[in-house]
Amino acid sequence: MSVLITGGAGFIGSHTAVEFLNAGYDIVIMDNFCNSKPVVLDRIKQITGKDFKFYKADLLDVASMDKIFEENPDIDSVIHFAGLKAVGESVAKPREYYNNNVTGTLNLCDCMNRYGVKTIVFSSSATVYGDPDEVPIKETAKVGNATNPYGETKVMIERILKDIYISDKEWKVSVLRYFNPIGAHASGLMGEDPNGIPNNLMPYITKVAAGKLPMLHVFGNDYDTHDGTGVRDYIHVVDLARAHLKALQYIEKAGGIDYFNIGTGNGYSVLDIVKAYNDATGIEIKYVIDPRRPGDIAACYADPTKAREVLGWQAEFGIFEMCRDSNNWQSKNPNGYTE
Ligand code: NAD
Ligand code: UFG
Repeated sequence: MSVLITGGAGFIGSHTAVEFLNAGYDIVIMDNFCNSKPVVLDRIKQITGKDFKFYKADLLDVASMDKIFEENPDIDSVIHFAGLKAVGESVAKPREYYNNNVTGTLNLCDCMNRYGVKTIVFSSSATVYGDPDEVPIKETAKVGNATNPYGETKVMIERILKDIYISDKEWKVSVLRYFNPIGAHASGLMGEDPNGIPNNLMPYITKVAAGKLPMLHVFGNDYDTHDGTGVRDYIHVVDLARAHLKALQYIEKAGGIDYFNIGTGNGYSVLDIVKAYNDATGIEIKYVIDPRRPGDIAACYADPTKAREVLGWQAEFGIFEMCRDSNNWQSKNPNGYTE
């Protein structure tokens, strides 16, 4: 039996591939490298000492997807990461986002159905909660007020998966709503490698720490939070990767469709992260306070009780390890995954 990991060359997919290989699973990875580089596949092999099949394929190219299932009849479940994820870009290129993420997922599900594979773990996001009425956020909170096309694709895909399950109860669907994944593999061999100037907080901070950017721009200090800066639930990518193992094992036994928040339950402000980075690395991050970034919300953090009680998963790493490992990745790979 083997697990297909779509988008397995990406940030979260690559860390998940390592956890599945370490747990003894056979995996097949597919990716079109639109936001990743082939060298990550060597890093996965280097860390685990294990081999796996890889397909350069595209969710939008049905023939390339069929070929994977045709040639690997042992695939019996899918962990589905492949998708575009930049919020700002999604506002500028909505058709590309809806097509890649929504049509791509429909193609994948059609293909799975043709080959009788009906178990899927899907990468959703806390963004489906929009601006939440209350924090910490439970899975029962209202979904569907995403503030940008990227978030809307997650809302739509969640709905599509639910309708597929309703139409055919043989499907087993686990929807994981990630909060803010940061950190890197402790080896320093894998991490997050965004193109250009990072949009997200931690990759920006690591570039400031490395002297590649002059200072952090803190987007607003007048939010209704303990120090006025935005509060988020940061989660170590290795903890997040392990949640997929638990989610797959659970849904294979339990069946049905279920939804889980994957976060630590702790909310840290931007300035908390600046301080934690200094505590973990000794590096002082220069910053300036700028106006709020359009579309940002004050606070977003999880109630992760359900994942703990139902999946038996909880985060093991804290903010110290997240900052330490992000910095370790940046300093060992100053130019990311250059070949
Ligand atoms: P990533 O961009 O590093 O990984 C996604 C991978 O999918 C990339 O390697 C990319 O090349 C591939 N891909 C994209 N479109 C494809 C297509 N049509 N066919 C084949 N491959 C394709 O992103 P990530 O941070 O690892 O995120 C993985 C998933 O988790 C995404 O679905 C993302 O929306 C979701 N997610 C991420 C975050 C986050 O902050 N990183 C938060 C919540 C949810
Ligand atoms: N921030 C700064 N300066 C920066 C970057 C970010 O002050 O240079 C602040 C933001 O204003 C926010 C916090 O840092 O308060 C976190 O911002 P990120 O961009 O790192 O993360 P977001 O919470 O905005 O977005 C992330 C993912 C989205 C996902 C969302 C909810 O990037 O894809 O979480 O899951 F939709």
